[in-house]
Amino acid sequence: MSTVVEMLNVTKTFGEGSSIVKALDGVDIRIEKGEFVAIVGASGSGKSTMMNLIGCLDRPTTGLVKVAGEDLSNLNDKKLTSLRNYAIGFVFQSFFLLPKTDALDNVATPLFYRGVPAKEARKKAMEMLSKLGMADRYTHQSTELSGGQQQRVAIARALVTQPSLILADEPTGALDSTTGKQVMDLFENLNREGITIVLITHDLEIAKRAKRRITLKDGKIINDERGAA
Ligand SMILES: Nc1ncnc2c1ncn2[C@@H]1O[C@H](COP(=O)(O)OP(=O)(O)OP(=O)(O)O)[C@@H](O)[C@H]1O
Ligand SMILES: [Mg+2]
Repeated sequence: MSTVVEMLNVTKTFGEGSSIVKALDGVDIRIEKGEFVAIVGASGSGKSTMMNLIGCLDRPTTGLVKVAGEDLSNLNDKKLTSLRNYAIGFVFQSFFLLPKTDALDNVATPLFYRGVPAKEARKKAMEMLSKLGMADRYTHQSTELSGGQQQRVAIARALVTQPSLILADEPTGALDSTTGKQVMDLFENLNREGITIVLITHDLEIAKRAKRRITLKDGKIINDERGAA
């Protein structure tokens, strides 16, 4: 097995002096390729801070963070951005689709940025939309799609670059429970194909469907359980 994410004694503090906040306080984790992990915990427990580190959007105050085998402290900002763009597919609560852009080009955009020729990029985007059951909606703009459909387009966009890790921050947070379950079905199918998924949620019903649950409290891991909840 190969390790996708590794954290060793990681702390992240914000502010200084008497107003210092320890958002992460001595976190150790290892996430292997093919895992499906939910990170849970109360508001303010450090979930987004942890996600920002895993997503190469931020650096730890102290400790080691390795993503896709790279030690973040060895990477300059440019290399960090490149690792983020190549290794990770992001999915957010608010889908962040480009306005006035059809579903096909929304999915193709990360490939356009990489300089993939438009025709080839759109072909790959179409394959990904088909895979997520959205082929018949490829000409639709986000305003013409339901929330669940928009999230499927956003997931297709996250997958089109074939990242080794999907990082999802409250991906079902803006969806009704039925649609949220469908998005989880999708993640389960993708995970069965071998894609590593790390999902942040405060919804325990959603978290139960992951194969592993990591619980944060006050910046510390207080529980790490595997198997069905
Ligand atoms: N940029 C920042 N500056 C100062 N404090 C911050 C910053 N980001 C996070 N914090 C603090 O760090 C702690 C952890 O925040 P974090 O956003 O990781 O929590 P969370 O678990 O994602 O919460 P939520 O469920 O509300 O999104 C909180 O006390 C928060 O106030
Ligand atoms: Mg958060």
